[in-house]
Amino acid sequence: MLQWGAVVLAGGKGSRMGGDTPKVLRPICGIPMLRLVVDVIGQTGIADMVIVVPEEHEGIQLILPREVEFAIQEHQLGTGDALSSALGFLHSGSDSNILVINGDVPLLDVSTIRNLIEEHTATQAVMSVLTANGEFSNSLGSIARDDSGQVVAIVEGDRFSKDSEQREINVGVYCFRVDWLLQNITKLNLSKSGEFYITELVEIACRSGKSIGSIHLRDISQALGINTLADLADAEDVLRSRIRNYWIDHGVYIMDRQSVQIDWTVSIGQGTSVLPNTIILSETIIGDNCEIGPGSMIRDSRIGNGCKVVSSVIEGAIVENAVEIGPFSHLRNESHIESEVHIGNYAEVKASRIGHGSKMGHFSYMGDAEIGSNVNIGAGTITCNFDGAQKHRTIIGNDVFLGSDTMLVAPIKVGDRASTGAGAVVTKDVPPDVLVTGVPARVVPKQV
Ligand code: UD1
Ligand code: CA
Repeated sequence: MLQWGAVVLAGGKGSRMGGDTPKVLRPICGIPMLRLVVDVIGQTGIADMVIVVPEEHEGIQLILPREVEFAIQEHQLGTGDALSSALGFLHSGSDSNILVINGDVPLLDVSTIRNLIEEHTATQAVMSVLTANGEFSNSLGSIARDDSGQVVAIVEGDRFSKDSEQREINVGVYCFRVDWLLQNITKLNLSKSGEFYITELVEIACRSGKSIGSIHLRDISQALGINTLADLADAEDVLRSRIRNYWIDHGVYIMDRQSVQIDWTVSIGQGTSVLPNTIILSETIIGDNCEIGPGSMIRDSRIGNGCKVVSSVIEGAIVENAVEIGPFSHLRNESHIESEVHIGNYAEVKASRIGHGSKMGHFSYMGDAEIGSNVNIGAGTITCNFDGAQKHRTIIGNDVFLGSDTMLVAPIKVGDRASTGAGAVVTKDVPPDVLVTGVPARVVPKQV
């Protein structure tokens, strides 16, 4: 049985991307690129993993599982130098092998990596490489083969003058026998650009009569390396379509697929339909038999079963079962909507709980409020929760009827079964079972 470890090269600056975020931390469909690479290695069953990182790497540490180890590359002297930085972590037994992956090649399938490992094992090569046919650019390495088809070199793009033609390229995924690597990595030469290239190890092996294992990848979308923002957008397109196909295979109907975006971290229940122009992001969980969209955006929220969300925005909220929302409503952070609530058009809810079966049909705002069950929130009703300096809470009991255009000047409480007349400006607590009307609102005496 061979021993396997893995090294991920993530020590580069990613200077072609702009912005302050390190390249490997850029999210693709909601998950940092490097996390995708680390996760796919995890799926191969290789547990010993070393990530080559620059000196400052707190951001990287935060997004990775605790078991991974970090090798610090002090100066960015190229991919060959990056691999050298990880050598101290490798088991050097004669049966030890390592998988090496560039941290900016995030779309690989686990089966591809397994194939390369199998080929490397079967051929007992000292080094194996993954190749694909693709549009060549100066930032890629081009595979050179001899007449018998053996890989003899990877020629880096900086040695070509021409871009943009179809070639066999180096994907940036390798296997090595560790003992051979330890003896040969010191032979790398400084390139014209002042870097040591991992890819020169191919020529070093060939010079001493060793053959190179290789696997040719047909699915070019897996080979995408991210160097520019255009590459990032391409990768996002690829992953987005994979995610949509995954959910369609798992009982979620998606209409007009191109217009729907679902993050990697989202989960959706069976029988749910996602309608056009809908974006579902972050740690959102959606239950069974919902209808989401058209034109909705949901982020970091939990939606129960049988809900309907039409042209609305839901952020950081919890929505229980059989709730209807929209069109054109907005649930904000810390909102909790209990089951069978109806929220209609142009309603906004912030940091509020709305009880079972309550209705908020038109043009309303509930902020910092607790609303009981079966409450009718008339059109235009709002909580006046901010006095210019502080936010205050509104508490409304069960079975309350709030007439159209009620202003609830917080802090305020409205008792169970109370009613407010249209246009009431409620400035004092309302006891249970009474009707208040007017500005400021007063209790209307019961007719005997
Ligand atoms: C590399 C390969 C190229 C291949 C391409 C595939 C080399 C010399 N070239 O080119 O043959 O076709 O990937 O995408 O390897 N890194 C470090 N430390 C460094 C430099 C880079 O850790 O000093 C890391 C980067 O963070 C990155 C990976 O290595 O994740 C690849 O580096 P990059 O500079 O992007 O190499 P490419 O020019 O893309
Ligand atoms: Ca790259």
